[in-house]
Amino acid sequence: MVEHPLDVGRVRGSNPLSRTMRILAIETSCDETAISIIEAKGAKSKAQFKILANNVATQINIHQPYGGVVPMLAKREHIKNLPILLEKTLKEAKLKINDIDKMAVTIGPGLEPALWTGIVFAEEIAKTNKIPLVPVNHMEGHIFSILVPEKKKTFKTLDVKFPALALLVSGGHTEIILIKDWLKYEKIGQTRDDAAGEAFDKVARLLGLPYPGGPEISKLASEMRHDPSHITLPRPMLRTPDFDFSFSGLKTAVLYMVQKIEILTLDIKKQIAREFEDAVIDVLAFKTFKAVKKYKIKTLIVAGGVAANRRLKEVFEIEAKKEKIKLLFPTRELATDNSLMIALAAYFQKNKKRASSQKLKAQGNLEL
Ligand code: KG4
Ligand code: ZN
Repeated sequence: MVEHPLDVGRVRGSNPLSRTMRILAIETSCDETAISIIEAKGAKSKAQFKILANNVATQINIHQPYGGVVPMLAKREHIKNLPILLEKTLKEAKLKINDIDKMAVTIGPGLEPALWTGIVFAEEIAKTNKIPLVPVNHMEGHIFSILVPEKKKTFKTLDVKFPALALLVSGGHTEIILIKDWLKYEKIGQTRDDAAGEAFDKVARLLGLPYPGGPEISKLASEMRHDPSHITLPRPMLRTPDFDFSFSGLKTAVLYMVQKIEILTLDIKKQIAREFEDAVIDVLAFKTFKAVKKYKIKTLIVAGGVAANRRLKEVFEIEAKKEKIKLLFPTRELATDNSLMIALAAYFQKNKKRASSQKLKAQGNLEL
């Protein structure tokens, strides 16, 4: 009998008849060490999920004095956190490692020293306990983060109508992905220099705000949202005929502006924050909805750390309504890095056979 690829899995643990699969996922691509366990069953269009445990150990305090993530410090912290987090996660899920049917680990894109820690740790556990281990693309994980509803432990696959489009906006990436069906991706646009999140972080630093800059800028901008602003910044590449972005010029424009200002008062910082946030959102929205029209998109997904930005969501909600398309954002908590999204992506992935001798490799620039 040929089974659906998603139904094939080792049936271990205490529930062999229901074909429920327990997936343990590990994510260490940047500065969050994350481990979670989900229970999943059913084919992709009707899959059902239950979150058994979901843990993130953030390293923000470690990297904050440096104004950004230091890869070697991230590596050291992941190595320290992983065994503690695994124990905590299994305990919360009330499971033993032998109850796990499948493991998943992020192999890229991300910081290679950080990625390696998760891979080495996952391979060791998988090998010792004879659990199949699947590699997951971090950006694919972000796409699947939209499946998880607010404050719910059980949920089903959403009704995603294709063609769908994903705007992925994080600290390392800004790209527009055309999704013709589950797992069928085509990149149609991307940033030519800095990622949107990176621009938020760099501008925050210019304004003397702590890392990560996105939430800081967003907070200041919201305090100035309804006041008149005397500051204008460019909307880079707004009118180019492609779906690409560029954010480094925007950061440089802020740099020149800040250099000319004698005293950077809180009021001026708020004005700059708001104009900068508006500039980034204007180009993201314009290019994304241009693609929505061109490709006759039915579902729009916005994911990655910058998807936690409230103003971005407001603007996209208005535009999506005009276009009469379904808009999916992750919850704010799952917009930034986590391992729940890695577990979900692993469930949707086709089971590719991998020789046990074939080692996984960290791929800093892995593409979708
Ligand atoms: O996806 P993510 O957690 O990590 C990467 O994969 O890069 O994204 C982190 C990025 C950071 O650049 C951070 O400043 C940005 O997401 N970010 C935000 C907000 N929250 C996080 N950017 C704008 N507004 C926010 N509220
Ligand atoms: Zn990410």
